[in-house]
Amino acid sequence: MKPLTIAIDGPAASGKTTLGFHLARHLGYLFLDTGVLYRAATWAVQNRGIPIDDEAQVTQVAREVEIEISAPSESDGRHYTVRVDGDDVTSEIRAPQVEQAVSPVSAYPGVREALTRRMREIAAQGQVVMVGRDIGTVVIPDADLKLYVTASAEERARRRYLELQKRKKPLPYAEVLNGIRRRDRIDSQRAAAPLRAAPDAVHFDTTHLDIEGMFAAAKGLVEDC
Ligand code: DC
Repeated sequence: MKPLTIAIDGPAASGKTTLGFHLARHLGYLFLDTGVLYRAATWAVQNRGIPIDDEAQVTQVAREVEIEISAPSESDGRHYTVRVDGDDVTSEIRAPQVEQAVSPVSAYPGVREALTRRMREIAAQGQVVMVGRDIGTVVIPDADLKLYVTASAEERARRRYLELQKRKKPLPYAEVLNGIRRRDRIDSQRAAAPLRAAPDAVHFDTTHLDIEGMFAAAKGLVEDC
């Protein structure tokens, strides 16, 4: 029997989102990239001029902000459209200022609690591929299939570097690598729901795999489940 709920976790630029998106499309399941919720909340905090270190106000924003993720409204290669209080922020949530602030914002327990609640409501609908950092450990620990996707920091930095070039927002490779290492550190050392593989997760190293290779291997895991 095919798994109904699939949890995919792993560090930044490990390939988990691409993999999750293709897997969801193949299975006809809903796809939710949960990093988008943390990014959207971070964008809302910055848009309201709230300092990132003001935990109480940041948490309040995460509780009340309206985040809507829907089918792509434009054909610019996006996988979905993200709206915050009605504004299309799909590309803005990938900007360097959001990238810098999202790890500290997502380390606040109150922020996690508010956004985890929203994720569980979506997971309760069944047939879902959910991608993030704590999906198999915290959000849906009873998922039918859990994958933990990794790749070396250098390979992940190379992917992010090429992606930024493609989006005409280039950054030097060394800067991208430092940013990846910094986020790895914050995401895996935070007290609340740190990045960690669930004990029953299947480990999946994508360092030497391209998209087709990743997808073929993941399809095999789904069919063997
Ligand atoms: O996957 P991403 O790069 O879009 O995630 C952005 C940030 O959100 C990342 O630094 C960690 C955080 N995050 C999290 O803490 N838990 C999740 N389930 C998803 C993302």
